[in-house]
Amino acid sequence: MERGKVLLIDDEPILLVTVSDALAKAGYTVEMAENGQKGLMMFQEGSFDIVLLDMVMPDMSGMDILREIKGLYPQTIVVMITAHGTIEKAVEAMKLGVHDFIAKPFSLDELILKLQNISSFQCLKEENVYLRQQLEKKYHFGNLIGKSDKMQEIYELIKTVSQTDSTVLIQGESGTGKELVANAIHFNSRRKNDPFIKVSCAALSETILESELFGHEKGAFTGAIQRKLGRFELANKGTLFLDEIGDISPTVQIKLLRVLQEREFERVGGTKTVHVDVRIISATKYDMDEIKTERLREDLYYRLNTIAIQLPCLLERKEDIPLLAKYFFNEFRGRTSKSILGFTEGALDLLEQYEWPGNVRELKNVVERAVAICRTEKLQIADLPQEIREIRLKKKLIQHEIETLNNVLKAVEKEYLQKILRITQGRKAEAADLLGISRKTLWEKIKEHQLSDKSPS
Ligand SMILES: Nc1ncnc2c1ncn2[C@@H]1O[C@H](COP(=O)(O)OP(=O)(O)OP(=O)(O)O)[C@@H](O)[C@H]1O
Ligand SMILES: [Mg+2]
Repeated sequence: MERGKVLLIDDEPILLVTVSDALAKAGYTVEMAENGQKGLMMFQEGSFDIVLLDMVMPDMSGMDILREIKGLYPQTIVVMITAHGTIEKAVEAMKLGVHDFIAKPFSLDELILKLQNISSFQCLKEENVYLRQQLEKKYHFGNLIGKSDKMQEIYELIKTVSQTDSTVLIQGESGTGKELVANAIHFNSRRKNDPFIKVSCAALSETILESELFGHEKGAFTGAIQRKLGRFELANKGTLFLDEIGDISPTVQIKLLRVLQEREFERVGGTKTVHVDVRIISATKYDMDEIKTERLREDLYYRLNTIAIQLPCLLERKEDIPLLAKYFFNEFRGRTSKSILGFTEGALDLLEQYEWPGNVRELKNVVERAVAICRTEKLQIADLPQEIREIRLKKKLIQHEIETLNNVLKAVEKEYLQKILRITQGRKAEAADLLGISRKTLWEKIKEHQLSDKSPS
């Protein structure tokens, strides 16, 4: 069995040979060095899982070698072989990160047992790291929460596009996290230490938007009492997030197209050409078809949409609802002095059944409100807003309607069967043929409806 690669550094030739033989028999790959210098050289060349290191050697002290090894690869597991070890030395070695000691003289069994324990410890440690990575991978990315496959895909996409400077168009219903995605891209990109500037295009009139984006010179229009830098200039070297891109006017679109193509523009009322290095991310709630055919010039659409990220609505990733609800609950509980423990099962159930037209934002608001009004140990159905509580009532109504309908259908079926049986004078084979069902099914139906069965078969 392959157990790992061990580097044995000791100046006693007999120890080198006996220990390496025993370890090789136990399944380890062993390399030996008879002095410190050689040991260090071999360590740098090979990749070892464990280093067995003599504390005292003529050319270099074990402590110095330990220091070097930990400096090079802090994760390496080092076991000190000690004969002359004092407590102070042991303490110093532990501070440097030695994993364990073994005192000379030691039995080979004792050494092998120690190494086996280390291997299981290492496995556990690796497993822990793996689990933590899985957990991190699964549940969030930056400030985005979600463990659904759909969100995993989004995380992967964000990671990939963060490594590029391409324009990104984020599409998603209101409250699906478009701004969070834009944020995550910026803060994972090489531009993360430079500005992330946001412009809400829908909130501004055409002239104001133009001067917001490109700035203006003093006197460019009434009220322009001094030069103002636009968001493009403010975002230089960083990222500009154009929110609600579907609402910009044709004039601004043309100017935007030029910046995307030439990386330059003039401030409103100015003649000097300004050059910028800005990564552009835009977002829209309109669907891509509408954006492409109705809302944006086609050339601008293609320029903005090098990479498209389409965010799923919450209904498409229901499995994230409890996770998000609990996350927001922790956030809002932390801001109050209440000691609420969590959700009742009923409340959580209803949250999962609701359709969430306002997506994550709506869920966040619902949880905030529930925490604010909750007077009990747990968040109850009563703490949820009317439209969510109504789901229960709607379900009951639907259930009732289905039951009524079923009863009507059964009554009709019974009457129909009776009629056919009367026509066929109780002859089952003929009746089954007429009904287009098997005789067995007919028998079952007769039994189910408790029809009298006096007639011949
Ligand atoms: N996956 C998520 N994890 C955690 N919080 C989220 C997530 N998605 C959205 N939110 C939260 O929901 C709210 C709305 O998110 P955001 O502003 O990014 O959505 P949006 O798509 O830009 O919405 P709109 O179209 O209305 O501008 C924010 O408070 C944000 O923190
Ligand atoms: Mg938004």
